[in-house]
Amino acid sequence: MSRRKKLYEGKAKILYEGPEPGTLVQHFKDDATAFNNKKQAVLEGKGVLNNRISEHIMENLNRIGVPTHFIRRLNMREQLVREVEIIPLEVVVRNVAAGSIAQRFGLNEGEPLPRAIVEFYYKDDALGDPLVSEEHIAAFNWASPQDVDDMIALALRVNDFLSGLFTGAGIRLVDFKLEFGRIYDQNDMTRIILADEISPDSCRLWDMTSGEKMDKDRFRRDLGNVTEAYAEVARRLGIMKETG
Ligand code: C5P
Repeated sequence: MSRRKKLYEGKAKILYEGPEPGTLVQHFKDDATAFNNKKQAVLEGKGVLNNRISEHIMENLNRIGVPTHFIRRLNMREQLVREVEIIPLEVVVRNVAAGSIAQRFGLNEGEPLPRAIVEFYYKDDALGDPLVSEEHIAAFNWASPQDVDDMIALALRVNDFLSGLFTGAGIRLVDFKLEFGRIYDQNDMTRIILADEISPDSCRLWDMTSGEKMDKDRFRRDLGNVTEAYAEVARRLGIMKETG
């Protein structure tokens, strides 16, 4: 394990060179960060839970024809994924007002939005991941207009699927963040696929009846029982009985 080449270390994950060309190993750490690294902690077992939850979601997405980088889970903390050229954008889909959109437009947290809203943020820690428009994306060549159309269409399909999946588990999908990557086929044609992870670190998930938060806001807002909430999400999705 230690002899593998580390390609990238982020806040919550590490990427290693994969066993075959065009593959990577995505390793989930227990580290939690918020507010652009200003708040940090180690939450024991979080990486294991996110690995399993993301596996479950990505596998289901692959099955319904949403292309993702996920190939298979390797162990408790690692999954084999396709190597992609990451598009430097965070794509956020929102169903209910919370977090930065509630602040920006003075909405009450929990207010349903008139329709699902897709937003793009430029991935840059030093700038604090600013909200950007399609004009910015095209002008700075972060992605082509076709890529943007593809990302919006895929993000809305993911939203439809995940909303149903979580509703079935008694969970309200408030919002979530996606990252996409580009792959090249034999003819050097590019295709956009879903990358990174989908987990309670990257979604807002509220219990349907009590409204209790079951996501990273528990860490951001010091609500306690963070991994317990993630484990409950996993349990309700039928993934695992114990935190493992
Ligand atoms: O903070 P904001 O309201 O813009 O976040 C929207 C959604 O995107 C939340 O579910 C949050 O967890 C997720 N997000 C993320 N990584 C970021 C920023 C937001 O996973 N860097």
